[in-house]
Amino acid sequence: MRSESCSGYAFGDSDVAVKRLRLVAEVFEPEMVSFLSCVQVRPHLAVDLGCGPGYTTRLAAEILRPERTVGFDASDRFIQMARAEPRDGVEYFRHDVTTTLFPVGPADLMFCHLLLPHLRDPAAALCTWARQLGPTGLLLIDEVSNIRTTQPIFQRYLDMVEKVMVERGGHLYAGKVVAQLDAIPGLEMAFSRQVELPVSTAHAAAMFRMNVAVWGRRPTTRDLFPHSSVLEIESELEELTKSTSECEIAWDMHQLIYEASPLKIGI
Ligand SMILES: C[S@@+](CC[C@H](N)C(=O)[O-])C[C@H]1O[C@@H](n2cnc3c(N)ncnc32)[C@H](O)[C@@H]1O
Repeated sequence: MRSESCSGYAFGDSDVAVKRLRLVAEVFEPEMVSFLSCVQVRPHLAVDLGCGPGYTTRLAAEILRPERTVGFDASDRFIQMARAEPRDGVEYFRHDVTTTLFPVGPADLMFCHLLLPHLRDPAAALCTWARQLGPTGLLLIDEVSNIRTTQPIFQRYLDMVEKVMVERGGHLYAGKVVAQLDAIPGLEMAFSRQVELPVSTAHAAAMFRMNVAVWGRRPTTRDLFPHSSVLEIESELEELTKSTSECEIAWDMHQLIYEASPLKIGI
């Protein structure tokens, strides 16, 4: 079956990518905690879709307290790293979440954080996940709908990364894409809100600089921008990692909870 993933994960699974995801987990933890805490039921099986090295899986296990938590990721390396930090009741499997049936049976809860930007067809992914939910299952989507900044270097970076994502068949602002979807067969929207996440200039610059270090060196990037602009933005971001400013950039997160509605897909 054809995978609906983009041509590989845009930010890779190198040491830099791992370091970046550790910082991402730290920066996004407050909004994830507040979102996951909205769930009132204790799931038997919770699935973390695109779990990376397991930071989000461990957080979901801690907050939701499922009997079993499973993280799926397409990267062997991330799965190995996740397994290197074992927790009771938490398992990880290499699995493309857009293709075949999940190897764990129907889930009571699925959590999708910062994965949809890397999938070609978010609507198709949601339909696939709907079919893997148990009868009263919940699908939690937590994605970026906008990044607002007053810092010109950040704006320049964002304009560049948006082009990189489009070239790979993805969507930087997947939260916006989800907001515009028609009804998804098998899912009923139960909760939807926008949350603002202010991020310090130093943290934003560090995440962005690590991203450029990965996609800026790809041959396909050279077709989009001259290498000199990539080097320039990298060094400008490096400078900003020393900034003490706290109010130059904020992420808008779109948090949605869908409930399984099996009747709508006739099962
Ligand atoms: C931005 S990271 C997010 C990781 C984690 N959810 C978090 O919020 O920190 C996106 C992850 O999705 C994984 N990924 C991308 N496409 C995938 C697919 N089709 N199936 C499974 N994992 C995928 C990547 O390998 C990467 O680890």
